Amino acid sequence: MDGRIADANDSLDFLDTMGPSDAGDDGGFAALLKTIDAVIVGAGTLRWLVRGGHGWPHHDLPTWLVSHEPALLAAAGEGPAPLRRVEGSLEPVFAEIEAAGHQRVWLAGGGSIAGQALALDRVDEVVVTIAPVAVGAGPALFDVEGLPSRRFHLAECSALGGDAARLRWVRAPR
Ligand SMILES: NC(=O)c1ccc[n+]([C@@H]2O[C@H](COP(=O)([O-])OP(=O)(O)OC[C@H]3O[C@@H](n4cnc5c(N)ncnc54)[C@H](OP(=O)(O)O)[C@@H]3O)[C@@H](O)[C@H]2O)c1
Repeated sequence: MDGRIADANDSLDFLDTMGPSDAGDDGGFAALLKTIDAVIVGAGTLRWLVRGGHGWPHHDLPTWLVSHEPALLAAAGEGPAPLRRVEGSLEPVFAEIEAAGHQRVWLAGGGSIAGQALALDRVDEVVVTIAPVAVGAGPALFDVEGLPSRRFHLAECSALGGDAARLRWVRAPR
């Protein structure tokens, strides 16, 4: 409820407060993934996945890893689609993804990457699930200094699990 996407120890245990979903209800995640043709992920998010023994679960999608650490690529493993590392401004990364013909890019986390993309005005849609708890500390959904105000319009709103809400906002016309 306070915009945190992990707690101060990088734990996602607070998601348990959402309560059980109906069987097979993943909040539309599988359907969303089917609409995606490229992914950008931050080092913090990938490290969290690697620590949990998951590696990179989306090797079927061309992925741009934003990190200063070359060794992280090897830790993520390999799959059918390319996984490349980039660093510095995300603007040339978006230009490269566009030039490759990708239309719908998923910002898979974390808050630092989402914040930088929003600061560049490269976020067209925000799909967020709000758990019924204030976490208090930890990375924020858009975690960047000096973020300019960006206006969105509500496109969808539904209940998820016992007490959570799933919202979809689309960028207001520029
Ligand atoms: N609740 C959810 O649905 C959800 C979703 C995704 C993630 N998460 C959680 O969010 C946390 C991670 O979020 P976060 O905001 O801390 O990290 P993040 O956005 O995943 O990654 C930030 C890191 O990426 C690297 N980086 C960022 N911008 C860069 C740039 N322009 N050039 C080069 N490297 C750059 C830096 O690491 P290096 O310099 O070390 O490479 C930076 O510390 C994890 O706990 C994860 O589990 C939660």
